Amino acid sequence: MKNLNAELYANELLELWAKKNHLLIAEDKLLSKYLVDKTKKVLDVGTGGGRLAFYLEKKGFVNISAFDIVPKMIDHATRVAKETNSKIDFKVADAVNIPEYGSDEFDYALYLQQVLNFIPNDQGFKASLKESYRITKKGGLAIFAFLDYDSRFFNRPFSATLNILRKIREENVSMQRLPWIKINNKINWNLFNRDQALSYWVKKDAILADLKNIGYTILEVKNANQFVNTKTKSRKGMLYVVCKK
Ligand SMILES: C[S@@+](CC[C@H](N)C(=O)[O-])C[C@H]1O[C@@H](n2cnc3c(N)ncnc32)[C@H](O)[C@@H]1O
Repeated sequence: MKNLNAELYANELLELWAKKNHLLIAEDKLLSKYLVDKTKKVLDVGTGGGRLAFYLEKKGFVNISAFDIVPKMIDHATRVAKETNSKIDFKVADAVNIPEYGSDEFDYALYLQQVLNFIPNDQGFKASLKESYRITKKGGLAIFAFLDYDSRFFNRPFSATLNILRKIREENVSMQRLPWIKINNKINWNLFNRDQALSYWVKKDAILADLKNIGYTILEVKNANQFVNTKTKSRKGMLYVVCKK
């Protein structure tokens, strides 16, 4: 199966993500709360241009590995690493299957900026969750950010409209797989066409059940807006889940 999201990251979204370097509020709070030991082994999954990996190295972490499915992202990160004498170990790999990394290898595994939601099929998505558990040490942490289906009010009518089209076109696609509305800040005018890059939007209860079934203990679950307004029950932005193996 073609990976249209990987193609987007290798082309239209390359520059944007290769060069990103600021942290979101939620990321800042989660990293400072949970990544407390700078001697521990960190894996940054779907690292892009190495935004989080370089940030952690600057903070004093000394044992960082990072990978991305898009070779051009890793070329960029490796170039920056050379220029800055960074010791981060960058590789090209697909989160669905990472034999490049050993079982129980990492104390902290980061799956931030919804990397896994770009995996183009449900089987691959589930396999990537299992891989996250395999490579995390017993007692170690895996921190995920997911696209949350119920964080956007229009996802249900959007899915319903798409489902009508998909039925007419005899496509068998889950309602949780939605096309990009904007790509690189430009409206995706082709969003109702066939053969779109689709992102997988998780349902909160289902993803928490999947993570528990794999063996994780859930330590914290919050949407992005709840890091800013700690009292709100509304859910906006990414769903962050902190798991302990
Ligand atoms: C939104 S960017 C986030 C980049 C980085 N994690 C960050 O927070 O700056 C998503 C990244 O995930 C990568 N990606 C998508 N699918 C992947 C997969 N199956 N395995 C590894 N990386 C993947 C993309 O190439 C892209 O660099």
